[in-house]
Amino acid sequence: AANQMWGGRFAEGPDAIMQAINASIGFDKRLYAQDIAGSRAHAAMLAATGILTDSDARAIGEGLLTVLSEIESGQFQFKVELEDIHLNVESRLTEIVGEAGKRLHTGRSRNDQVAVDFRLWVRDQCDAAITGLTGLMRAFVAQAEAGADWVMPGFTHLQTAQPVTWGHHMMAYVEMFARDRSRFEDARRRMNECPLGAAALAGTGFPIDRHMTAAALGFDRPTANSLDSVSDRDFALEFLAASSICAMHLSRFAEELVIWSSAQFRFVRLSDKWTTGSSIMPQKKNPDAAELLRAKLGRILGATVALFTVMKGLALTYSKDMQEDKEQVFDAADSLMLGLAAMTGMVGDMTANRDTLKAAAASGFSTATDLADWLVRSLNLPFREAHHVTGTLVALAESKGCDLPDLSLAEMNGVHPGITQEIYSVLGVENSVRSRMSYGGTAPDQVRAQIARWKPLLG
Ligand code: ARG
Repeated sequence: AANQMWGGRFAEGPDAIMQAINASIGFDKRLYAQDIAGSRAHAAMLAATGILTDSDARAIGEGLLTVLSEIESGQFQFKVELEDIHLNVESRLTEIVGEAGKRLHTGRSRNDQVAVDFRLWVRDQCDAAITGLTGLMRAFVAQAEAGADWVMPGFTHLQTAQPVTWGHHMMAYVEMFARDRSRFEDARRRMNECPLGAAALAGTGFPIDRHMTAAALGFDRPTANSLDSVSDRDFALEFLAASSICAMHLSRFAEELVIWSSAQFRFVRLSDKWTTGSSIMPQKKNPDAAELLRAKLGRILGATVALFTVMKGLALTYSKDMQEDKEQVFDAADSLMLGLAAMTGMVGDMTANRDTLKAAAASGFSTATDLADWLVRSLNLPFREAHHVTGTLVALAESKGCDLPDLSLAEMNGVHPGITQEIYSVLGVENSVRSRMSYGGTAPDQVRAQIARWKPLLG
C-alpha cells in the first residue's frame, strides 16, 4: 500500500523530499510519554463508555506500556515514513496487539492528539520553570542575607547614583524572578484544559466522555469549543512570552556579572566552575557562562517571534503550519532550563568583594543627594536651592580632584555659610544607606525585612 494509514485513498507514496519536509518524527519523538499517556486515557475512556470492549482496551493499555518501555530502552525503531510520534506509536501498538490497536483512533484525530500531547509537555515545562525559578530566588536570598548591609554603589545610566546595599541589589532580582514565576503559574492555570475529544475539529458522534479523559490527564476540565481546541497555540505562546521575559531578567544580571567581574570593577569574583581561561593570555578568567546566558534570550525571543509569525495568518482550524510550533518551544525551553540552572550555580558560587564595593560606593560623589537633603532638613533650604548648592560643591571637589568629605568646612562655607561640621556625618556611605528606610528602600533594616518576608515563601 502507498501508506499504512491512508493508503485507501492514495495510489502512490510521497516524494522523498515531501517526506523530508513533512515528517516531524525527528523532533516530536520528544512527546512520546505524553502521546502514550493521552492514548491510554483515551482507550480507558472508550471502554468506560462502551465504545470499545474491555478486552480491547486492556490490550491497548498494556500494548502502549510495551511501546513505552521499548522507547525508553532505546529499542524502538522510529520510522520517518510514519511521519510523527502519533503514527509511530499507533503503528507499533498494532504490531504488538493486532486488531485492537486499529480501534484506538476511534473518536479521535491527530489534531486533538497533538494538541493534548503538546499541552502536557508545555505544562511540565511550566512546572520545571517554577521549580528552577524558586531555586534561583533562594540563591539570591542567600547572597542578600550574607551582605544585607554591605555598601555598594547604586547606578543609573551606569553612572554612580547613590550608595545602596548588596542585599538590596540581590533582592531586586528576587522580585523580578518572583514575577516571572507567577507568569508561569498563571500560564499553567490557563492552559490546563484538555483538548482531547475535539477530534479533527468538530467533535465526534461517538458518546465519548471528555470529562473523564480531562481528569485522567490532570486537567481542570475539557476545553469548551472543539474548533478552538485544535487550533489554539496560545498556551505555547504564553510559555514563550513568560520565558522571554524571564530570559531578559537572566540576561540583565548576566550583564552585571560581566561588568562586575572585570578587572576595572572587581565587585565580584566568579568561581572557577563558571568561568573559562584563555589559550594565550594566562591571566584570563572569562565569564563565559554569564555571556552565554546573556545571549540565550536571543534564541528564546527568536522562538517567540517565530511562533507568533507561524500562527498569525492561520484561518481556523488546524493547518500543517502548526507543526512548526514544536522545535521552537523545545529549543526555548531547553535554553531556559539550562539558563536557570547555570544562573543558580553562578549566583551560589560568586563572592562579593566587600571592600571594593565599599570603596566604589564612596567614589563618584555618591552622597551628594544626602548632602542636599541635609541642607533641606537642617537649614530649611528649598530642595531646588539645596540641589544647586550641592552641585556647586561637587564641581568644587571635582576641580580639586577630591571627594565631597575631603572639602574643608571653610571651603563648604564659601559656597554656603550655614553649613556646619554635622554635614560630614551624612557624607559617609554607611549613614547614607541606613537613612533610606522608606518602605522598600535600601536601608539594611528594610532589606532584612524583605528577606524575612521571602524566606518562608521560598521554603
Ligand atoms: N505532526 C503533526 C503536528 O505536529 C500532528 C498533527 C497532524 N495532523 C494532520 N491533520 N496532519 O502538527
